[in-house]
Amino acid sequence: MSQLPILEYPDTRLRTVGTPVAAETLADPAFQKLLDDMFATMYEAPGIGLAAAQVNVHQRFMVIDVTEGRDQPLVFVNPVIRDKSADLRAYQEGCLSIPGIYADVTRSDGITVDALDRHGKPFSLTTDGLLATCIQHEVDHLDGKLFIDYLSPLKRERAVKKLEKLRKQKGE
Ligand code: NI
Repeated sequence: MSQLPILEYPDTRLRTVGTPVAAETLADPAFQKLLDDMFATMYEAPGIGLAAAQVNVHQRFMVIDVTEGRDQPLVFVNPVIRDKSADLRAYQEGCLSIPGIYADVTRSDGITVDALDRHGKPFSLTTDGLLATCIQHEVDHLDGKLFIDYLSPLKRERAVKKLEKLRKQKGE
């Protein structure tokens, strides 16, 4: 398994809307390797989710593991959020493409998502809490959307300034 470079804000490639994963892609061993590499990259970062767009693959899939034990890897191919609860919940979100920046984002507390697993088998998942937040965050990536898009202009400006400052400190 190898680490993949992660695109960082404000890279405009993060704004690309992903195309659906085709059946022949699912059957390609290179796709399975890419998923393994995405998990390795996400666990190393460390992060709880990584969308294909973040590793410069503009197709609709993502990997997630929100467990503390890091032992429940989930793959979502062509995910569609079919149902969202009216109940909302704010979580402090971060993103591997916007390292060091965290902000509260309000999203639906519960969702039902339909997707294919890594072998193309359809499944449906109804969940809430952190996993539901993470799925919504990653599906946004597939649509070229970032969590800072939800912030007020003032908060977003502050976040971007902080990101620039952190980069300078790291000597980038
Ligand atoms: Ni993200």
